[in-house]
Amino acid sequence: MIQVAFFDAKAYDLPSFERCGREHDIRFRFLETKLNEDTAELARGCDAVCVFVNDTVNAAVIEKLHQCGVRLIALRCAGYNNVDVRAAFGKIHVVHVPAYSPYAVAEHAIALLLTSVRRIHKAYNRTREFNFSLNGLTGFDFHGKTVGVIGTGKIGRIFIDICRGFGMKVIAYDRFPAPDSGIDYVTLDELFARSDVISLHCPLTDETRHMIDAAAIEKMKKGVVIVNTSRGGLIDTEALLEGIKARKIGAACLDVYEEEADVFFEDRSGHILNDDLLSRLISMPNVIVTSHQGFLTEEALDNIAETTVNNILSYFEKDGICDNELCYRCGHIEQCRKERREKCF
Ligand code: NAI
Repeated sequence: MIQVAFFDAKAYDLPSFERCGREHDIRFRFLETKLNEDTAELARGCDAVCVFVNDTVNAAVIEKLHQCGVRLIALRCAGYNNVDVRAAFGKIHVVHVPAYSPYAVAEHAIALLLTSVRRIHKAYNRTREFNFSLNGLTGFDFHGKTVGVIGTGKIGRIFIDICRGFGMKVIAYDRFPAPDSGIDYVTLDELFARSDVISLHCPLTDETRHMIDAAAIEKMKKGVVIVNTSRGGLIDTEALLEGIKARKIGAACLDVYEEEADVFFEDRSGHILNDDLLSRLISMPNVIVTSHQGFLTEEALDNIAETTVNNILSYFEKDGICDNELCYRCGHIEQCRKERREKCF
């Protein structure tokens, strides 16, 4: 039986992973703690670890896991900016779940956008208090507005399709534009200048970190609505707050936050929040924050568990093949196994 230390386990993870594990002879050791240098030792005796977006998988953690005999790091998410893939090479294989439900995230981005623009969050609270006033609830039509989409991969394209359904004009920026997609690609500066709504759907890399900073916000339309369901580090949060205070940014819809690792996914009610920046953001009337729940649908959770289990089985049972491996060696971290269908080391 394959033993897997499952870090940062939450109640909603258990049903799908327990079911898939039972079906395939994998025993998950569910741990509530996140993976970091202090907790890596808990994986001793396990063949693999299963980690999520806010676990720390840096060089030091990888070295400790290696010493503990762990041979596989199975990410149960798509993004891998928290993993030092380079440090893992030659020591521990890394696999991820490239797609589980791009619809879940794209639809959540739309949910945030509609809620914010049509003030649903305010109306909900008002009517519960029998306050039926409409003052301050004026929104705007999506129809005819321009939405700028940054990153036109799986999630970005579904988001685009939904926006087109609203009758919005879609422009997009991608470092690697999709040929023959029919998408109207523009430069980043043009996107900033023309968009009424900007939605981020690209990965967090050294290049994209703080792509929305003070200089970018300066180039945007007054009243722009910014949606981020991708990674918090794409936005310089201080600059975002300044843009909101200066009335330049009309609204911000955030499912992710730069410093979310110590706050999100936990019940902090009844505690004093030590993060002043997040407190100030949440206190703004035109900011909606959800705690990284874009992925949280039944379909996505089932797909995540099934793909993660298959990834683990492919490593331990299929000789030479490692499904969904992440490896920097080939220069294209995600393309590696697709081209070669074999383990890189
Ligand atoms: P994808 O890999 O299919 O698409 C990413 C797109 O970004 C690609 O078209 C790529 O060419 C583009 N890109 C790469 N570098 C860029 C750059 N420097 N500037 C502009 N575009 C660039 O990824 P997918 O599945 O669409 O996911 C997008 C992001 O959504 C992930 O990186 C992840 O951070 C985030 N995500 C958030 C979730 C949530 O629960 N909120 C759940 C799943 C993913």
